[in-house]
Amino acid sequence: MTEAILLVGGQGTRLRPLTIDTPKPMLPVAGRPCTEHQIARLREAGVTRVVLGTSYRAEVFAEYFGDGSAFGVELVCVTEEVPLGTGGAIRNVLGALASGPDDPVLILNGDVLSGHDMAGQVAHHRAHDADVTLHLINVDDPRPFGLVPTDADGRVTAFLEKPQTPEEIVTHQINAGCYVFRRRVIDAIPTGRPVSVERETFPGLLAAGAPVLGWVEDAYWLDLGTPLAFARGSRDLVTGAAPSPALPGPTGPALLLGTATVHADATVDGGSCIGDGAEVAVGALVRGSVIMDGAHIGPGAQVIDSIIGRGSRIGAGTRCEGSVIADRAVIGAHNELAPGSRVFPDARIGDTVIRLSSDRS
Ligand code: GTP
Repeated sequence: MTEAILLVGGQGTRLRPLTIDTPKPMLPVAGRPCTEHQIARLREAGVTRVVLGTSYRAEVFAEYFGDGSAFGVELVCVTEEVPLGTGGAIRNVLGALASGPDDPVLILNGDVLSGHDMAGQVAHHRAHDADVTLHLINVDDPRPFGLVPTDADGRVTAFLEKPQTPEEIVTHQINAGCYVFRRRVIDAIPTGRPVSVERETFPGLLAAGAPVLGWVEDAYWLDLGTPLAFARGSRDLVTGAAPSPALPGPTGPALLLGTATVHADATVDGGSCIGDGAEVAVGALVRGSVIMDGAHIGPGAQVIDSIIGRGSRIGAGTRCEGSVIADRAVIGAHNELAPGSRVFPDARIGDTVIRLSSDRS
């Protein structure tokens, strides 16, 4: 048996206002929460037991996943009273783990879509008797990330801060947010205070000479932390660029869920997902976007690379690009929402011609 911990307690501030009602890992990406896609991939990798480390809006997870039986795993939710950070959250679920002291435990950041070989990562960890094995990926531009160089034997040699100068770019390898821990390493994380695995636990292990390995694999990988990345993750799942056994339909240019309706004279493409009960009216264009359950896209409206929340209405002729509209908002006809626009839940924007824009993120 292999166990996994999913870290799902973050506030998801970069995805506000979508995360006001729903925690980030529970927002539908291609029709299913990111957590469900992750559980499906974990199952494929041989994981039978999943522990969710929850904090922000913990009740949403328990309600959806129950005991996990509908998802083919045994599932337990553990909730922090106050957020403990990534390391603190891992330590906080210790009592819920069934693994022995030297067993490997898989740990995933709850907002990452990854196509890498998790079973291979666990096998590598076991074969080398490591304390921690981190999935590392190579990125073209590593400047926004901490760097994780490895030596010829695949051992991590340092955890470096974001590079400030070209000379500091000593590797393009970054932490991809999926770890295998020897269980007794979790036992040693301090309790009762916030701990960051990235800033405290991993550097501490290196300083103590513990075997920390890199599993370098450049498979599909995306951090869903920002609105643009979130829309991209959804369309990558819909088109099949990102693998998930939990996709609720065939891959293709668009995914229509439940009773979604698209007028014969509308265009829906670019990996868009149209939620259950949502409608796309005559002459509308929906491209590369997430239209959540019950939303309505009016006649001739254009929705491009955007996220439209549950029950929201986009008026006739209105254009949204790179925009985030939270649940139940109503945008009147003939508006233009420029990249970076964010509309809060229940907002009302009339039928005037306005141009809404803010910072692009
Ligand atoms: P931002 O606020 O937009 O940065 O998002 P976030 O709150 O999710 O933070 P971040 O993306 O850095 O977190 C990485 C992963 O760890 C996410 O899956 C979070 O849900 C999770 N996480 C972050 N902090 C905590 C915490 O204090 N407790 C728990 N249980 N999980 C956490």
